[in-house]
Amino acid sequence: MSGGLAILGAGGHGRVVADCADALGWQRIVFFDDRHDVALETPWSVAGSGEDLMAQASAFDAVVVAVGNNRMRLELLLALRSVGARLATLIHPRATVSGRSVIGPGSVVIAGAVVNIGARVGQGVIVNTGATVDHDCVLEDGVHVAPGAHLAGGVRVGKESWIGVGAVVREYTFVGEGAFVGAGAVVVASIDAGLKVVGNPARQIRR
Ligand SMILES: CC(C)(COP(=O)(O)OP(=O)(O)OC[C@H]1O[C@@H](n2cnc3c(N)ncnc32)[C@H](O)[C@@H]1OP(=O)(O)O)[C@@H](O)C(=O)NCCC(=O)NCCS
Repeated sequence: MSGGLAILGAGGHGRVVADCADALGWQRIVFFDDRHDVALETPWSVAGSGEDLMAQASAFDAVVVAVGNNRMRLELLLALRSVGARLATLIHPRATVSGRSVIGPGSVVIAGAVVNIGARVGQGVIVNTGATVDHDCVLEDGVHVAPGAHLAGGVRVGKESWIGVGAVVREYTFVGEGAFVGAGAVVVASIDAGLKVVGNPARQIRR
């Protein structure tokens, strides 16, 4: 059988992505994961490993990578594209995304999230449940804005950075590549690449 949506990664985030695809009307959803004991209690089963998906990616209408690790998600997405996979961009029907924003291939915008005018979202990005990305923000490839995090206007988030659950980022600041903003942090000034910050105001804990 072919067609439908293949989701690589059947853990918690994978199930959220499948639920989003289901709400969008995808009729056939198939997980791939190197673990076989995942995705229990869902209507969707694990059809094979990541390697299996690489071998048959082009047989699916679209593929999405639902792996939580930002770097890994991006690497897998690029690898799948190189073998002919078409990348899905999933925007939950109850997310609010401006028609004057851009959401890149392989990115997901989950229920309750808002992406406002002028925002540019790269590939393999997660804008998670109830997160807001305001006007003119730029999210580079592989970023994850976790549930309930809020980016004010004009924020730029570097490649593969993580904005933790409930964090807040001040307008026109820059979060460097591979940075990690902790849960609930309040970022009031730009953060260098690779830093891990927590608290209000956000301060570095260690590289
Ligand atoms: C910031 C974070 C990455 C640090 O994780 P870590 O490197 O494992 O660090 P630790 O848990 O060992 O904590 C190190 C110190 O920072 C403190 N700390 C950790 N996270 C913190 C946070 N979000 N706010 C304030 N302090 C925090 C810890 O209390 C600890 O302090 P201590 O040294 O005085 O005991 C993690 O705590 C976090 O906030 N992750 C975000 C999770 C998230 O967004 N999940 C969404 C899933 S969709």
